[in-house]
Amino acid sequence: MKHDSSITIQNLEAAFAGESMAYIKYMYFAKICRAQGDEETAKVFEDTAAQEVQHAFGHLDLLYPKDRMDAARCLDMAIAGETYEYTEMYPKFRHLAMQESNEAAVREFDEQIAESVEHAQRFQATLEKAAKRFAALAKVEERHANHYRATLAKVHG
Ligand SMILES: [Fe+2]
Ligand SMILES: [Fe+2]
Repeated sequence: MKHDSSITIQNLEAAFAGESMAYIKYMYFAKICRAQGDEETAKVFEDTAAQEVQHAFGHLDLLYPKDRMDAARCLDMAIAGETYEYTEMYPKFRHLAMQESNEAAVREFDEQIAESVEHAQRFQATLEKAAKRFAALAKVEERHANHYRATLAKVHG
């Protein structure tokens, strides 16, 4: 899918990012409020967060229409995202955090790099398993097709 060409697609990407961040932020705010004994405000944040998720899904429906997606494509995109995180994004952030002597951030980025590697590897392994499953399925389909053709040939004499 070529996304860069359309302003609306870019806006959907930005809106998706915003709604996703709102969800996480409100869940985090809810935790803060609950820890301070303010259950009512915590609930308002959680209820609103649940709606932000639906807004984010709505944007994804337009960005990645379900009829154009399958497990392999989802896994490919996930692997690309995680790989970008541990090869480009976090190493760059880590480098800059070192320059600013922000050791807490350096440690956090190191953890995230390790996690992103793990996530990418797990998605990769899942993709390979799925590919084998598709190949096996294709073989079964082929056998069925051959059987059907043979039967058809017999019927037609
Ligand atoms: Fe929203
Ligand atoms: Fe991840």
